[in-house]
Amino acid sequence: GTAAASTAGGNVTMSTNAEFEPFEYKANGKIVGIDVDIANKVAAKLGKTLQVRDVAFDSLPAELTAGKCDFVAAGMTITDDRKKNMDFSDSYFDAAQAIIVAKGSTIKGKADLKGKKIGVQQGTTGDDYCTKNYKDTPPKRYNKGADAISDLISKRIDAVVIDDYSAQKFVAKNANQVQKLSDALTVEHYAIAVKKGNTQLVSTINGVLKDMKSNGELDKIINKYKSA
Ligand code: ARG
Repeated sequence: GTAAASTAGGNVTMSTNAEFEPFEYKANGKIVGIDVDIANKVAAKLGKTLQVRDVAFDSLPAELTAGKCDFVAAGMTITDDRKKNMDFSDSYFDAAQAIIVAKGSTIKGKADLKGKKIGVQQGTTGDDYCTKNYKDTPPKRYNKGADAISDLISKRIDAVVIDDYSAQKFVAKNANQVQKLSDALTVEHYAIAVKKGNTQLVSTINGVLKDMKSNGELDKIINKYKSA
């Protein structure tokens, strides 16, 4: 196997895309967030030190296949398509795609999105949703959700479709200019992904998640970032 995957002691490596507050983002030059806290618990269980690799969201699957990391923790939604190339842990968070528009926009809900210029983060389930549902007007794909929000504020696009919790964070930072609509577009479940066939690591991760759910630690972590 790869050095990252099987060295005793040493490091365990997670890959992520730290553009997704509150799950992973940069604060004072450090990558922090709900996923980092969970990953640290996994590392502790393995008796290893957590290393974090920050890459583009759409290159996360390749991080696993190329053995650049042991697992991906990136607010990643379980999908049938992704399951072809990676294995998922149990889910640790339920989410939905949300719509963000400029204050005063004529877009009031899902029904108004057709034919509009929509920004998404490339390779996400928001990208998938818009690509599939609005075939005539493919979404504008950004490397970072924050860049889509900037384009929304400067009226280059009409809406941003992004995961709800992250949407709340973006809106809180730009509350004078943008707002989140109440419509939810999808039902999604986040999980940690490992290289296909790494059943041992999946069961370790599931054990950690199970403990964190039953002892209240997971809720505590999620709540900690609500106000952060
Ligand atoms: N939940 C969505 C997906 O799986 C978006 C995740 C974005 N995560 C990130 N770290 N940028 O496609």
